[in-house]
Formats: sequence, structure tokens, C-alpha cells
Amino acid sequence: MKDVNLSDINVLISESDINERVKQIANILNSDYNGEEVCAICVLKGSVMFFTDLVRNLNMPLTMEFIRLSSYGHSTSSSGMVNAVDIKLPDLTGKNVLIVEDIVDTGITAKFLLDYIAMNFKTKSTKFVALLDKKIARCADVHPDYYCFEIDDKFVVGYGLDYDGHFRNLKFIGYADKSILQ
Ligand code: IMP
Repeated sequence: MKDVNLSDINVLISESDINERVKQIANILNSDYNGEEVCAICVLKGSVMFFTDLVRNLNMPLTMEFIRLSSYGHSTSSSGMVNAVDIKLPDLTGKNVLIVEDIVDTGITAKFLLDYIAMNFKTKSTKFVALLDKKIARCADVHPDYYCFEIDDKFVVGYGLDYDGHFRNLKFIGYADKSILQ
């Protein structure tokens, strides 16, 4: 993959817009769950920042689980295959499950996880919240129940999202021009 520098990254969504929107989505979730207990699942690595900011603004009784899925490897496009690097989960039967994803792009990862949960547990409810919805790239028939921002067909980094392992720590969501990425 090509080397990309911080100076190549343009701001797409600012830190303050992210903070404001994450709080808005948390308030919607607080209202929709109406005090019922939730098991929130963080899909690592990309959703780490969104997850920690979101759960701090949720006020229902809550447990957290962390799983790790990978579909991109060292590339800027989905391999079409999901690698369940670590998908150990407790029994979710009877629970309100909230999957927290960084971005729904092709939707293959989200579909894999939703199918996995449906096959293995009879949950009380399964909902799915994404930081970003890249609707234009969707192949699988999945749609997040909640999302913070819809984006067009850009490869984005920051706030948990990476380019070959880099830029996850940026406080904003940014993108590099296609000519810079391979
Ligand atoms: P999907 O299976 O194609 O929906 O994408 C799954 C995963 O690919 C996401 O959870 C991200 O970790 C990664 N991904 C997709 N689009 C981007 C992007 O624009 N930047 C960084 N990672 C991405």
C-alpha cells in the first residue's frame, strides 16, 4: 500500500460534529430502549472510539462485549470474506443486543454478524448502530437501525478507522483523494 501522510488527509466530519451526533444517537437509543438492559457489542478494531463515546452516553443497564472481525486486510476495498478473528460471545438468548459498527460499506461484515447472532441465540431484540453508512457501496441487504452520518464513496480514516493500521487516533473523520490511495 502507498504511504499516506497526515497532510494528505482532508477533514470530512469534524470532532465537534462527531461529538454532537454521537450524543444525539445515544439519546435516541436511551429513549427507544426505555430503561431496558442492553448488551452492547463492540466490533473491533474500527468501532473502538465510537463505542466508548456512545456507551458513556447511554443510561440503561448495560453490559459490553468485544469481538474482532476483519474483511479488509491490507487494502482499501472489502475482500468479500469476513475473518472472525475473535467472536467469543456469552449466551445472548433473551437479551437486547446492540451491535456497534464503525462503518457499513458493502454490508458483508454486518450481514455475517447478524446471521451469526440469529443462528446462535434467540435474542429479545437485535439492533445495529453504525457510525457511518456508505449506502452507495452496499452489496448485502442490510441497513443499520441507526447511523450517525451517511457518506459517499470515499475511503475514510480517523476516529477508529484506519488505512493499513494508521490514523485510528485522529479525532475527526477524514479522507485522502483516490489518487493518493491505491
Ligand atoms: P463491509 O463489510 O464492506 O461493510 O465493511 C466492513 C469493514 O471494513 C468496516 O467495519 C471497516 O472496518 C472496514 N471499512 C469499510 N470501509 C472503510 C473505510 O472507508 N475506511 C476504513 N475502513 C473501512
